[in-house]
Amino acid sequence: MTIPSLLSQQLLGALKQALGEQLPADFMPAVTPSQDLRFGDYQSNAAMMLAKQARCNPRALATQVVDLLGETEMATAEIAGPGFINFRIKPAYYAERMTALLSDERLGVALTDKPKTLVIDFSAPNVAKPMHVGHIRSTIIGDVLGRLARFLGHKVITDNHIGDWGTQFGMILWGWKNLLDKDELEKDPIEALLAVYKTVNAKCKEDESLLPVCKAELVKLQSGDEENLAIWKQCIAVTKTGLEKIYNQLGISFDYWLGESAYNDALAPLVDDLLAKGIARESEGAVCVFSDGFHKPQDDPFLVQKDGEWAPVPAIIRKADGGFLYATTDLATLDYRTQNFNADAIWYVVGAPQEKHFKQIFDIERMRGVTGDFRHVAFGSILGKDRRPFKTRSGDTVSLQDVIDEAVTRAAKVIEEKSSDMPAEEKALVAQQVGIGAIKFAELSQNRMSDYIFDWDKMLALTGDTAPYLQNSYVRVRSIFRKIEGAFQAPDTLTITEPAEIHLARLINRYGEVVPSTLDDCRPNLLAAYLYELAKAFHSFYEACPVLKSEGKMRETRLALCELTARVLKQGMGLFGINMPDRM
Ligand code: ARG
Repeated sequence: MTIPSLLSQQLLGALKQALGEQLPADFMPAVTPSQDLRFGDYQSNAAMMLAKQARCNPRALATQVVDLLGETEMATAEIAGPGFINFRIKPAYYAERMTALLSDERLGVALTDKPKTLVIDFSAPNVAKPMHVGHIRSTIIGDVLGRLARFLGHKVITDNHIGDWGTQFGMILWGWKNLLDKDELEKDPIEALLAVYKTVNAKCKEDESLLPVCKAELVKLQSGDEENLAIWKQCIAVTKTGLEKIYNQLGISFDYWLGESAYNDALAPLVDDLLAKGIARESEGAVCVFSDGFHKPQDDPFLVQKDGEWAPVPAIIRKADGGFLYATTDLATLDYRTQNFNADAIWYVVGAPQEKHFKQIFDIERMRGVTGDFRHVAFGSILGKDRRPFKTRSGDTVSLQDVIDEAVTRAAKVIEEKSSDMPAEEKALVAQQVGIGAIKFAELSQNRMSDYIFDWDKMLALTGDTAPYLQNSYVRVRSIFRKIEGAFQAPDTLTITEPAEIHLARLINRYGEVVPSTLDDCRPNLLAAYLYELAKAFHSFYEACPVLKSEGKMRETRLALCELTARVLKQGMGLFGINMPDRM
């Protein structure tokens, strides 16, 4: 159990004694890390919250609780301010837990006691449209949520819901038949299809007669024309190959690739069912879902405020011409996941602009009586240094492949400067780990809802909250062990005394708290900030406390602190899909 949950239990016992019947039945006191370490390691405002309800003086209640708690093997409690209870953990207790961590592969991270079957829908680029830097966020965050959830014991299914059935195929089909450069297609299928799409798009603007021709190709595809279906299939196949190359470089994989087209046959029956149940109705020839009045207007995803009045914004699920929409496909997809995968949680890692779409989808599910942990894990945009959407010099969206290539090239320069004597093969591998790590960490260290500026120099810097800094910290720890040539044996007891040792021990013990809360809130930046703190604490410790020059119990303790720091850094970054080089 983590330290705050143990403290919370002890606190609950004392509160029960102090308040008796007045303690609400399911009350669980919150214990959180203190912002200011001068006041202790953890704090609780439970006495203040309860005093209000019990109509007693908060400080008096806190005093009583602190007396009841007394001094334990784990901590001492103190009162602060109007009734906060502060806990100071004893160094000996940290030391004791650390000896247990030395033989714990999970480094104190407990498995969840409520395992879910969780589908994570992420990346999901569109065929014949480039996977651009904006897809970075979904791809990296989604992958990390999957890794975290698996590590915590959930059953995770990752699904790449690619956009493989859009109107873009009208132009692509015509372009494929009339313009395609087969050599280019071999070389870079994603770019080749994009080029075709762009050219046809431009031609359509010049020549009005072309658009209907393209539309006719689309209609033929939709009605099952064999030639067009074969071309369409080939487009998907080459795109998948191209995408897989990128995902491989990133170390990311999917359990399924059920794109939009996988649900084509389910759309018509779904709309009929929603009509029959009275959840959807016809409006101006289209089939729509309107508000059922369940929510307050300000929380209702089917209403917007217009000129001081609430106006309907229905979800359209079938157009007047019979065509289906993005929303229809997402409803069918949700059905499939809940029925075939038995999913009780589905998380969509998709940009913030699709917020209304997902709110409507989840609300339609509520109307149908389908419940689950459905979440839109939204995120902001990536900006250039000019604070405008990140673009190339020529104004195009930046392709993900270009970002990867540049990151690795830049990382190679950093490695060259730092360790020019490293064998070439190792250099190349480390450049890959550092470059890709830098892109990932720059993403994961951000609050996902905020926009962030894509800044090469910052993300590749060897100082600050960057992957190279954390990788370099790991390398420094490992180099200590290289000097003693593996002669470290985990000791049975440790003695922690110095402030820098205590702080490092405190952070090592916190890892088991941070990992689950990172997943609870889908906020990788919590773990990122923690790992950065840990690395900084390690450096301060290493400056203040000689390791190899110390002796006896002190040396054993310090080596154990080094060992655990390295393990936590490696495992924590591993949960981010970032590899740690042994040297750099
Ligand atoms: N293809 C979509 C896009 O690029 C993202 C799909 C997200 N997943 C979903 N189930 N809607 O915007």
